[in-house]
Amino acid sequence: MGINVGLLGLGTVGSGTAKILLDPEGRHPLLRQITLAKVGVRNLDKPRRVEIPADCLTMDLESIVTDPAVDVVVELLGGLEPARSLILKAIAQGKHVVTANKAVIARYGDEIFTAANEAGVYVLLEAAVGGGIPVIQPLKQALGVNRIQAVTGIINGTTNYILTRMQREGGDFEPILADAQRLGYAEADPSADVDGLDAADKIAILASLAFGGRIKLSEVYSEGIRHVSAADITYAKGLGFVIKLLAIARRHAGGEDSVEELELRVHPTLVPESHPLASVNDVYNAIVVEGEPIGQVMFFGPGAGEGPTASAVVSDIVNIAATLVSGQGREVTPKTANPLLACSHQHYCKVSPMADIVSRFYVRLLAKDEPGVIGKLGLCFGDHAVSLESIVQTGIHDDGAEIVIVSHEVTEANFQTALDEIRAFPEIASVASVIRVL
Ligand code: HSE
Repeated sequence: MGINVGLLGLGTVGSGTAKILLDPEGRHPLLRQITLAKVGVRNLDKPRRVEIPADCLTMDLESIVTDPAVDVVVELLGGLEPARSLILKAIAQGKHVVTANKAVIARYGDEIFTAANEAGVYVLLEAAVGGGIPVIQPLKQALGVNRIQAVTGIINGTTNYILTRMQREGGDFEPILADAQRLGYAEADPSADVDGLDAADKIAILASLAFGGRIKLSEVYSEGIRHVSAADITYAKGLGFVIKLLAIARRHAGGEDSVEELELRVHPTLVPESHPLASVNDVYNAIVVEGEPIGQVMFFGPGAGEGPTASAVVSDIVNIAATLVSGQGREVTPKTANPLLACSHQHYCKVSPMADIVSRFYVRLLAKDEPGVIGKLGLCFGDHAVSLESIVQTGIHDDGAEIVIVSHEVTEANFQTALDEIRAFPEIASVASVIRVL
């Protein structure tokens, strides 16, 4: 029994996917049973990175998702529409779906997986997070017997590239972003990456799998890297940290109502130099999963790019093919669905408000260099139960002193209240930066 694939999109990842499917030699033997039957493109005349038989190509994307001969629809269009509608239409036609579209899954996963469960089809998304790094299937399968406590990752390559260069070159954000755009490492409109939105989509997906519940994307806190300065990177280094854009999902035991809560956040973070994520540089991604009884596992690799992302896409196609050829036939009913591939949760996870999150903080203040300022700061922090780990007056300028403080663990609410009071002190010219510490 052969499996026919209908591919939507022949951009970077689509081309890489077609290349693997058209060149099965030396790869998994199941690939020989998979045929690239149809490829949907927006423009038939565009030069291609891969040669596709002319009779496979069409601009009619809908004809692919309704084609009775297509078993698996692979959505690699990106963007929200028409990707979402085509995925839903494919599901309604009883087709399995493979997608790399984190934006669609993070926003419409509820609708898509409900429809897929009703239709008895699989929707797989290994390529949506971490590019070529296998992390979705490991969370669902190999790590699925663990109680996962936390997932912490560097899951945006563009920001990791920019922060790595800022670290190495001592440069500021804007000129390095401009250079990254020139070199093709950052998009012309970089906001999804540099404002943390792409990482928020991805951590919502990882958290949903790790903690077995749906996530409302609006409940994921996200803060980007635009405000990280060369000065902060230098001070952080002096204190034994590197600054990374981390995506963090952590489970907390239930309180009085015994409903457990998740913290879900994306923000620049001071990471101790000794932490495994501190040495993940350039465009690489890495995800640390902590669970019981396994302990800590780190996944590391290329988080984007034609070949790596296509590797993840085709692994999903092969997973579906394996299930279909192993006796279930094309008709998968909700009862016969492979529970290691299907989505098995419907409820929404409870997410803690940011005000309740506990972390350490780094803060850089510009202050008048005069008696009593440090004492006043200490008192104010103390009044709000903020205990300080270190306080250093780092530089004296014509217009005052620069003070760098690292706190012990404290709730976000207490720390921010103290900081609001400090901002109003006449001796404080500005709170130049506030960055959480891992
Ligand atoms: N824009 C993403 C990143 C790549 O920079 O990591 C695809 O997810």
